[in-house]
This record gives sequence, C-alpha cells and structure tokens, in this order.
Amino acid sequence: MNVFDLTGRNAVVTGASRGIGLAIARGLMVAGARVMITGRTEESVAKGIADLGSGALGHAADVSRESDVARLAAEAEAAMGPVDILVNNAGVNPHYKRTEDTALEEWEAILDVNLTGVFLCTRAFGRGMLARGRGSIVNITSIAAHAGLARTGAYCAAKAGVEALSRSLAMDWAGQGVRVNNVAPGYVATDLTAGLSANDTLRGRIETRTPAGRLAEADEMAGAVIFLASDAASYVTGATLAADGGWTAT
Ligand SMILES: NC(=O)c1ccc[n+]([C@@H]2O[C@H](COP(=O)([O-])OP(=O)(O)OC[C@H]3O[C@@H](n4cnc5c(N)ncnc54)[C@H](OP(=O)(O)O)[C@@H]3O)[C@@H](O)[C@H]2O)c1
Repeated sequence: MNVFDLTGRNAVVTGASRGIGLAIARGLMVAGARVMITGRTEESVAKGIADLGSGALGHAADVSRESDVARLAAEAEAAMGPVDILVNNAGVNPHYKRTEDTALEEWEAILDVNLTGVFLCTRAFGRGMLARGRGSIVNITSIAAHAGLARTGAYCAAKAGVEALSRSLAMDWAGQGVRVNNVAPGYVATDLTAGLSANDTLRGRIETRTPAGRLAEADEMAGAVIFLASDAASYVTGATLAADGGWTAT
C-alpha cells in the first residue's frame, strides 16, 4: 500500500495558473489525483491547463469574491464529484511598504486575497468535507507568518492569520475527519519574487540568509503538499510544515 497515493481523490488548487500552485497541481496529478485549478481569468486558467496537459480541469474564480467561490465549489463538484483535497495557494504581495505609508485599500487588497480568500474557500469546500466525514485542506502560508519581514506588514499579518485559522479549524474539525494544515515556503523562484531575484544585492542577501544557499524551485513545494493531502498524514492536523531551506531553523 502506498500511503501517498491520491488515486481516486479530487483536488482543487487555487491560484494555480502559474508558480507554486501550478507545480502543486502537477504534483497532485502525478500522485494520482484529479485536479481542478483556478486563477482570476479564463486566459490564465487556460494557460495553466495547457501546461498541465490532458486531464487537468480549470475554472476562473477570484478567491476574494464570495460569489466566485460559490460558483467554483459548484463547478468543481459538477465536473469531478466530491472534493477531497483543497489547496489554498492563491496569494499576492503587490508592493513593499512600511505600514505608516499603507493605505486602507492596499491593506484590504492583501488581506482580501491572502486571508479572506482562504476563509471563503475553506468554508465553501469544508462544508461538503464535513458532511462526508473526510477531507484535507492545505494552506500555503510563508516564512512571513513566523518572522517579521521588512515593509511587508499586511502580508505577514495575513499569512500569520491563515496559520491561526488552520489551528482553530483543526480544533473544530479533527473529530469529523477533516484535517487542516499549512505549508510555509521560504523564498521560491516565481513571478512573485522575480523583482527580488533580478536584484543581485537582494538575491545575494536571501541566498546568504537561507541555509540551503539558494531560492527553491516551485516544484520543490509539491512533496510537502502531497504528504499533507494524503493518508500518510492521517494523524496530522493543525500543523505547519516549513519548506524553506532551513530559513526558520536559524
Ligand atoms: N514565491 C515565494 O517566494 C513564496 C514564498 C512564500 C509563500 N508564497 C505563497 O505561495 C503562494 C503562491 O505564490 P507564487 O510565488 O506562486 O505566486 P505567483 O507566481 O504570483 O502566482 C500567484 C497565483 O495566484 C493567483 N491569484 C492571485 N490572486 C488571485 C485571486 N484573487 N484569486 C485567484 N487566484 C489568484 C494567480 O493567478 P492569476 O494571475 O491567473 O489570477 C497565480 O496563479 C502564495 O500564497 C504566496 O503568498 C510564495
């Protein structure tokens, strides 16, 4: 028996048109799951599906909009049947600003996607999981949930909020067969960090600060998610698995 096997499981990965979400979707498919990806536009979702190849499904949805999330949940169930695995990966960090210079709208835009989006998707898919007595939710957080990053207040607050939500959900849902965990990446080479990577000084600082000495590739996040989604993690809930090259170990 392979406890990591996801054959017969249906999974939804939010924000999987590119980057870490796309890599997680690919990993879940390799592990045997049927996967539906999301992004904000039909075009970006179509590109993600093309990258994943045959068998992948997609639906455009903004995770910060309640009506989009309700449509996503209905569409996923209609296309695949009951959803067993939800990966809340969609996230944004559009600017680096000190908090005293952050407008309320800028704060809300970051909290809406990174924290409220997780609440909306978890509620929408969690209800069915609870009714069936089975499910695994994996939230993609960040080292920003564990350490203060400069000029990143809203993002740090949102990611720490997600981890607090996961712990509370573990209390509420563990007895009903639904597990909720986090994967906290360090610096990963994606569009989100392209600006940092392009700056030799900033990139050098990250490489020096990270015991592994480099940024991760997006594919390196998939294994941690497969583990938490699978029966291999049947007694793991409310936990955070760091995938950060040792960043938080120092
Ligand atoms: N890269 C890193 O170093 C790093 C480190 C720690 C944690 N993380 C976290 O990992 C996750 C993925 O990051 P990434 O680096 O892969 O970012 P990315 O390359 O910028 O990709 C972000 C993904 O999220 C989607 N998205 C953005 N806003 C959305 C919304 N409102 N509704 C639905 N989808 C939305 C984007 O799709 P569309 O543009 O098609 O809408 C895209 O697929 C995020 O939660 C991020 O905070 C990243």
